[in-house]
Amino acid sequence: MKSKVIVVTGTPGTGKTSLCRRIVRENKGWVHLDLGRFAVEVNAITGYDDSLETNIINTSILKKALLKYVSNSAGEGIRLLIDGHYAAEVSPVKHVDYCLVLRCRPDVLWRRLRSIKRYGEDKAKMNVESEITDYCYLMAKLHLKGKRIVQLDTTGISVGKTYTRFMECYRGGFRCRGDMVDWVDFLLKNPGKMGFLFR
Ligand SMILES: Nc1ncnc2c1ncn2[C@@H]1O[C@H](COP(=O)(O)OP(=O)(O)OP(=O)(O)O)[C@@H](O)[C@H]1O
Ligand SMILES: [Mg+2]
Repeated sequence: MKSKVIVVTGTPGTGKTSLCRRIVRENKGWVHLDLGRFAVEVNAITGYDDSLETNIINTSILKKALLKYVSNSAGEGIRLLIDGHYAAEVSPVKHVDYCLVLRCRPDVLWRRLRSIKRYGEDKAKMNVESEITDYCYLMAKLHLKGKRIVQLDTTGISVGKTYTRFMECYRGGFRCRGDMVDWVDFLLKNPGKMGFLFR
């Protein structure tokens, strides 16, 4: 069985790492590569952005290291999950088989970022705006042309349920329809849910 490479992207807080950890816990042969950690290991961090409260990454160093890692990790039955909100931009396209984009409704994501991930208001707001404008999905479409890209909405379901839905989709060769979300439409119909954006 040929190895498979799966890009797992989505706005911070949509649950990429929680899902990947569950997948590797439940299945043999799956490998989880957390890009945030990988970037540190391969010395791709060039500084710290105080306003965004995040590491600054040299994407060319990261891309080269990732290409090497992916090329070397091919093997019988290996399933590699590349987890990061910029995973679609830096993963070596020719090796990628599938791409999963996790989604979360803006008001729910806001609460996850503020109360679970302890993001400050500005950082949480910026990330929720990226979610509303489909940023990660658009990046996946742009950088992973021709690959099967599936979105799964994690709003109001458990990590376990996201895991079950992911495995169904994977077993079907990523031919499932997934979830098409439209957060602008949701907010227009539920204006009370967008108060957090105008604090
Ligand atoms: N259905 C779900 N699927 C995944 N995570 C969920 C779900 N529901 C709630 N969560 C929670 O949302 C949080 C997501 O955090 P997690 O670190 O996994 O996100 P992430 O996408 O990896 O973020 P980052 O890009 O910052 O690393 C976790 O606390 C997780 O328990
Ligand atoms: Mg993560």
